[in-house]
Amino acid sequence: GWRTLHLYQFQGFWCQAAEIQSIITFQKHFQATDTDIVLATIPKSGTTWLKALAFATPPFAHFQPHDLVPFFEYKLYANNQIPDLTTTNLPDDQPRLFGTHIPFASLANSIRKSNSKIVYICRNPFDTFVSSWHFLDKVKPESKAPLSMEDAFDMYCKGIVGFGPFWDHMLGYWNESLLRPQKVLFLKYEDLKEDGVFQLKKLAKFLGCPFTLVEEKNGVIESISKLCCFDNMKKLEVNKTGSSIKNFENKNLFRKAEVGDWVNYLSPKMVERLSKVIEDKLCGSGLRFKVFP
Ligand code: PPS
Repeated sequence: GWRTLHLYQFQGFWCQAAEIQSIITFQKHFQATDTDIVLATIPKSGTTWLKALAFATPPFAHFQPHDLVPFFEYKLYANNQIPDLTTTNLPDDQPRLFGTHIPFASLANSIRKSNSKIVYICRNPFDTFVSSWHFLDKVKPESKAPLSMEDAFDMYCKGIVGFGPFWDHMLGYWNESLLRPQKVLFLKYEDLKEDGVFQLKKLAKFLGCPFTLVEEKNGVIESISKLCCFDNMKKLEVNKTGSSIKNFENKNLFRKAEVGDWVNYLSPKMVERLSKVIEDKLCGSGLRFKVFP
């Protein structure tokens, strides 16, 4: 089970040994400022997309979002390093943007206590699981035996997945977004697919830079939405050849980007089991998912 994936339980969630070290360093040293923006996700739920959208408001020309919005645990605080955040790759008048998969309860205290903002993107567990399985299969070393979908699914339903259980991860941010809507914006992958313009308006407003009427009229929102869409990002040169996150190539971040692709993979039994898990764990929370296109 968890050994195959090299996962350990730490502060109530599952992660790899190297991640634990970076997370501890980050928790100890990161000082949030009131203008910081943290983009949080559980892996495979739209991280790359959200980073692009946040950064493209206003638009940038040629970007790989993971370079521009660095992960705390994989980049800034990796290998025990303590970064000098006074000099970033961002222009001075821009708020600092960070990305993370760390659950809400384990974020550095200063993020929770400051007026910094958090944007969370959530994707339905069926598609997130299928996306994770494909990803793990692609990035695993050739020497390692393939992970069967059945085994991976069994672990997913038990909560054993990077930064999982997924229900705890989602609920941590969901509950905070209900308590402090000015602090946490909770977005859904499926909503972004369905009505990108509306969701982008919400995002821009939350980030404190709402679109002007002139911008709306001139189709600025549509162009940002197009700039960051799957087909466009997938074909960028940097996403065909680059490697922005340790241990894998950017091209592995782009697969199908569909809502409902899980119907091609999950048996009726699997669907029944995961539906039951979702029902049990999220009932009463008010959090709901769209699982069909
Ligand atoms: S990671 O490793 O956690 O940063 O991966 P993440 O970006 O969260 O998830 C990868 C899935 O998101 C799809 N994707 C996108 N969807 C819509 N728009 C854009 N621009 C986009 N970029 C990546 C990607 O294809 C993965 O989903 P699946 O279902 O596997 O295709």
